[in-house]
Amino acid sequence: MPAPAPDQNKGLGYITSTLAAPLSSAEAALRPLSFADFTGQPKTIERLQVMVGAAKRRGEALNHILLSGPPGLGKTTLSFILGHEMGRNVRVTSGPVVEKAGDLAGLLTSLEEGDLLFIDEIHRIPKTVEEYLYSAMEDFRLDIMIDQGPNARSVRLSIPRFTLIGATTRAGLLTAPLRSRFTLQTRLEYYDIPTLMGIVTRSCGLLNVDLDEGGAREIATRSRGTPRIANNLINFCRDFAQERAQGKITKPVAASALELLEIDGAGLDEMDKRVLRVMAENYKGGPVGLGTIAVAVGEEAETLEEVHEPFLIQEGYLQRTPQGRMLTSKGYHAIGLKISPGGAQGSLL
Ligand SMILES: Nc1ncnc2c1ncn2[C@@H]1O[C@H](COP(=O)(O)OP(=O)(O)OP(=O)(O)O)[C@@H](O)[C@H]1O
Ligand SMILES: [Mg+2]
Repeated sequence: MPAPAPDQNKGLGYITSTLAAPLSSAEAALRPLSFADFTGQPKTIERLQVMVGAAKRRGEALNHILLSGPPGLGKTTLSFILGHEMGRNVRVTSGPVVEKAGDLAGLLTSLEEGDLLFIDEIHRIPKTVEEYLYSAMEDFRLDIMIDQGPNARSVRLSIPRFTLIGATTRAGLLTAPLRSRFTLQTRLEYYDIPTLMGIVTRSCGLLNVDLDEGGAREIATRSRGTPRIANNLINFCRDFAQERAQGKITKPVAASALELLEIDGAGLDEMDKRVLRVMAENYKGGPVGLGTIAVAVGEEAETLEEVHEPFLIQEGYLQRTPQGRMLTSKGYHAIGLKISPGGAQGSLL
């Protein structure tokens, strides 16, 4: 029996279904398309520019790249920029969607020489599929087992030289063999306020929203270092400015709009505050395990770890210790408590 042809349509189906979300959303309109449009992440950008320049000069496919970092900092955006800069197609899929080796084979054989394959949430790719990725990334071939029992045999498919762009919010969950097959592993960092102000100003320009510098600063300060949050806040501030002010986003307009969303002056949202409050009030500031906090605030531990905790730790509200999470004095302060001199118990400021 001949080897079953890889199911091209199935592969493409995945591509279009996973592409639909980013391309149809309002995010797409604001997404920078080239290095020139993209601000911030200077280290990552320089590394990528070096790789793109060298690959183009040699006329080769770009080497494999792993982008990690918290949600909304630009991993997907950068993968499209890499495609644009290389002048190649970007195929998009996501770890949990590639369920079987056959799914991977379908995707890989539908690529053209030099194309980019973007696998979002690559830490969630099933282990059985991950093993096939090793030879695909290294030797551009796939050895697929077909049939079972006595008829089982392996079929070798060669695949075009492609570039794998992996994105993950949890680089620590990637296995060592997979991680080591990426030539570049680069982590995106939270954006500083001046950079976010630039992003806010650019987005408002594209959306024809009237904004002054004070308004841009207010939104940037409350965006948790994250462009996606900044863009979302712009949308709400625009509505607020239209309904409650004269249509222009100024500092007081942005501040009132964001108060209404219960986002405080430092960008902490409802859930961040709830985490800090539970730690102070129920666990005397810790140490307390993440799972315990998750149950107490009614959120998935994974979401807390990926979305909330990195920012709280980076900004010094929380500390991670081998015994669990600890609230810092800044953490107490953020919820209107201070550490009493005798111990970790918070008291009202
Ligand atoms: N440096 C930047 N300059 C301007 N806009 C940006 C920048 N980085 C991200 N954005 C905007 O933020 C939005 C979110 O970025 P993106 O989708 O690339 O994040 P992500 O890291 O892939 O997030 P996730 O982990 O949730 O998939 C994009 O629509 C884009 O408009
Ligand atoms: Mg993304």
